[in-house]
Amino acid sequence: MSDYTFLKACRGEATEFTPVWLMRQAGRYLPQYMAVRSKCTFLELCKTPELAAEVTIQPIDYLGADAAILFSDILTPVEPMGLKLDFVPGPVFETPVRTMADVQRLIIPDPEEGVPYVMETIRILRRAFEGRVPLIGFGGAPFTLACYMVEGKGSKDFAHIKKMMYAAPEIYAALMDKITEMDRLYLNAQVKAGAQAIQIFDTWGGIVSPTDYEKFVLPYTKKLIDGLDRSVPVIHFVKGAGTMLELVKRAGSDVVGLDWHVNLGAARDTLGAKIAVQGNLDPTVLYAPHAHIEREVRRILDENGGRPGHIFNLGHGILPNVPPENAKFMVDCVHRLSRK
Ligand code: CP3
Repeated sequence: MSDYTFLKACRGEATEFTPVWLMRQAGRYLPQYMAVRSKCTFLELCKTPELAAEVTIQPIDYLGADAAILFSDILTPVEPMGLKLDFVPGPVFETPVRTMADVQRLIIPDPEEGVPYVMETIRILRRAFEGRVPLIGFGGAPFTLACYMVEGKGSKDFAHIKKMMYAAPEIYAALMDKITEMDRLYLNAQVKAGAQAIQIFDTWGGIVSPTDYEKFVLPYTKKLIDGLDRSVPVIHFVKGAGTMLELVKRAGSDVVGLDWHVNLGAARDTLGAKIAVQGNLDPTVLYAPHAHIEREVRRILDENGGRPGHIFNLGHGILPNVPPENAKFMVDCVHRLSRK
């Protein structure tokens, strides 16, 4: 058992201070990221292990975060399923999945062959971080991956995936089964390569009603989590899930990620003492003056009320034009204010 503060908090054990990291902590708000990124495309960066490792390390050096997250994207493992992927800068699939024939054409690759660069990046990072910070691997939840695969890109109303769910449930189920199996192999391969925790991002899990979440989303996430190598903690983040935390809990993760629409203390009461939580500062607070950032950090720590099993984080990814020094100030505040 590792005694990294972050991993102890994931397991619900008492810690000397509240560990903190930021979703999307490697990225465009950091000039050092932009320097690397200016020389290649985003996908080239993901596919070049030395560079992906370099930008993963940047926020650890600069912010002093308590965990690193692998630099990649939730959509990288979808490309070797047979869907050509581009970023412009949002993700685009040239040929979205719409018919049963489209689903049948999808391949479930061996992750070491389909995305060897991800596994190599993890191996490099484990050597680089030994004794310093733990490494989080990640993937998209089956539903969020399906949203991009069916819509072909981001969407405001998600009409295509919802139409498939309601009008062609057999195509939807076949697609979700295939994605879930790809994801299971992909995430277990990350653990085998050295990832010390796994985060599942369900960015779009909150766009459906609680009834539809239970019927169309939860069964697949639960099946995925049930199939994961549980020698490492699993963090499950569903954006917009404030009204359905009871359902999210049923998916079976060790840690539930919270966005900023919920009171962290109330969410903990709902989830119960056995589940750790991660969150939940509104990402736009990092635009605010330092005094306001400090007040908000204190409010969230107070809502947690000293309960073990809290990992401080934003309620969603850091925004691209946040001043880096504000992100660093936030990390320092969490450490200073939470020390016993
Ligand atoms: O957290 C990290 O630092 C690790 C890297 C990471 C990226 N994407 C890098 C990235 C992680 C964990 C992700 C997850 C991801 N990707 C999610 C789930 C989390 C969330 O934010 O909801 C989603 C929905 C995606 C899909 C995606 N990738 C979108 C919608 C976009 C475009 C919008 C945007 O934020 O730029 C991307 C591109 C992307 N992924 C960038 C980065 C650093 C920007 C690419 C660039 O440098 O041009």
